[in-house]
Amino acid sequence: MRARDCSIPLATNKHLLRWVDKMRELTRPAAIHWVDGSQEEYAQLCDEMVESGTFLRLNEAAWPGCFYARSDPNDVARVEQRTFICSLSKDAAGPTNNWVNPYEMRTRLRKLFAGSMAGRTMYVLAYCMGPVESPTSQIGIQLTDSPYVVVNMRIMTRAGARVLHEIDRGGKRVVACLHSVGRPLSPGERDVPWPCNDEKYIVHFPETREIWSYGSGYGGNALLGKKCFGLRIASAMARDEGWMAEHMLILGFEDPHGEKTYVAAAFPSACGKTNLAMLIPPDGLKQWKVSTVGDDLAWIKPDPAGRLRAINPEAGFFGVAPGTSAKTNPNAMATIARNTIFTNVGLTPDGGVWWEGMTDEPPSECLDWRGRPWTPEIARTSGTTAAHPNSRFTAPAAQCPIIDADWESPDGVPISAFIFGGRRASTVPLVFEAFNWTAGVYAGATMGSETTAAAVGEVGKVRRDPMAMLPFCGYHMGDYFRHWITMQRSLSETPKIFHVNWFRRGANGGLLWPGYRENMRIMTWIVDRVRDRALARETPIGWMPRYEDIDWTGLPFARATFEELQAFDREAWKREVLDHERLFIDLHDRLPPEMVYERELLICRL
Ligand code: GTP
Ligand code: SPV
Ligand code: MN
Repeated sequence: MRARDCSIPLATNKHLLRWVDKMRELTRPAAIHWVDGSQEEYAQLCDEMVESGTFLRLNEAAWPGCFYARSDPNDVARVEQRTFICSLSKDAAGPTNNWVNPYEMRTRLRKLFAGSMAGRTMYVLAYCMGPVESPTSQIGIQLTDSPYVVVNMRIMTRAGARVLHEIDRGGKRVVACLHSVGRPLSPGERDVPWPCNDEKYIVHFPETREIWSYGSGYGGNALLGKKCFGLRIASAMARDEGWMAEHMLILGFEDPHGEKTYVAAAFPSACGKTNLAMLIPPDGLKQWKVSTVGDDLAWIKPDPAGRLRAINPEAGFFGVAPGTSAKTNPNAMATIARNTIFTNVGLTPDGGVWWEGMTDEPPSECLDWRGRPWTPEIARTSGTTAAHPNSRFTAPAAQCPIIDADWESPDGVPISAFIFGGRRASTVPLVFEAFNWTAGVYAGATMGSETTAAAVGEVGKVRRDPMAMLPFCGYHMGDYFRHWITMQRSLSETPKIFHVNWFRRGANGGLLWPGYRENMRIMTWIVDRVRDRALARETPIGWMPRYEDIDWTGLPFARATFEELQAFDREAWKREVLDHERLFIDLHDRLPPEMVYERELLICRL
């Protein structure tokens, strides 16, 4: 069979062809490759990356179809300081986003991208966010000079020729995404395994629905369907069109009677979405079944009957590796057992992978994420980890053993509850239910969480992260709160809103809650509240389960520890509310009055 000539366009749409041509003239690649999305093409690109040193093929017997990559040590996480929302007015982007005048930014970008792909191939990657036939789905085209990005995007989205056909058929507006690692090659120059540039720009133009990403090849900086389109551009679209684009997992619960309830949960980056999305009930709660719809993004729309329905716009999981184990998340371990790309984890001598928390016993030796020898002894003396804390796996969602039967349903799944949850060592109880929709929006809007390694910067510092969207909302946060408030008006059934915190610590500094699969006990209470069959007591911040409202079957859990987890400290909450005020002052000119009233009510109750 003759190989396909990849430079021949796989689409006929004139706008598309003209734009590709214009970007080719700007970035000056050595070749163009129209991505068809086939398995053969994927395999070939992986082979080429093994050849070039970007990829290492893992031990085929132990890790079939799996590859290993190490990024540049300075390109390991999202760069929030280098992320921009370039709306026409600064006010539209709001105080929580970086803004530069779009004309000025375009001038800067054109200079950066001029010749930036020299010596490389420019891939034309059409991708669909959501099942291709879903009315909620959206289409993007990413031009990129990174084959690593192409193969990751093929796992994370529906990509290739079938999406180009959709574009040719017309109907949906296409989001234009330009991406370059920013490291042109001069003739004859040898490439490095992970090309990137110290200067990084992750830029969004919400009005023209464009994304320009420069200098990074990692995660949310470079896989533009994910945070750039899936949240920042999509949130602006959703505001205009009356739907919601959220940083949420989606999962289903089938209760012992066979009734199904879906919930969506927003936790900040590296705060437990993937883990909760793949939950296995503990032995005592085996009559319940859990299924995964998505682990990071949710696009949610009211259906004609006024019920919210959600799709997962992604087709894969780009999950945090450290902490993932057969104990904490066996479903994730099964999902990533084959056809998975591992980035920045440890490499064992037998061609396998390892990361902190994967097994109780570390391997006696391995290479760390920077390619240096690592042993438990080196770890003890120098404190280095085998895997980078933001090391990740990229795996097809279809491989998840508990993937929901309706995960690709074009209409999505009905959402009965929203859950917000941050990483908080103190103050915030294990779980409470908001009094109503606006009180729930307030709880989400004022959510605090300790920063994690998912973004470059200090780790462990509590910051306000409204709805886990602080780095991802493509417009003014005050308007985003208003959008949440007004969404209720188009609904015939209002989802209940809950707040959880798996990370509260006791006096000795240890975690009070076992977390992971034991979270199921909290989730069944939540589902039962949704179904009006669980009790709670009223507190100043909302409804809370008493010890006897939780099903403890199979877990001897001390009442005193539960009381400590649920403790409501008036003084701590007064300080907490003062911190809410700080966020609100920043947003004051666009803050919906409901948020101010909710705060006043909370203060009165305190
Ligand atoms: P992003 O992909 O960055 O959006 O992250 P995520 O929200 O999907 O986070 P993930 O589930 O990957 O969890 C991140 C870290 O939190 C991992 O190290 C987990 O081991 C840890 N974690 C998740 N769930 C729990 C829990 O219930 N309790 C505790 N203590 N840790 C948890
Ligand atoms: C996050 O940071 O929330 C992620 C990883 O899910 S990334 O794709 O890099 O945004
Ligand atoms: Mn995320």
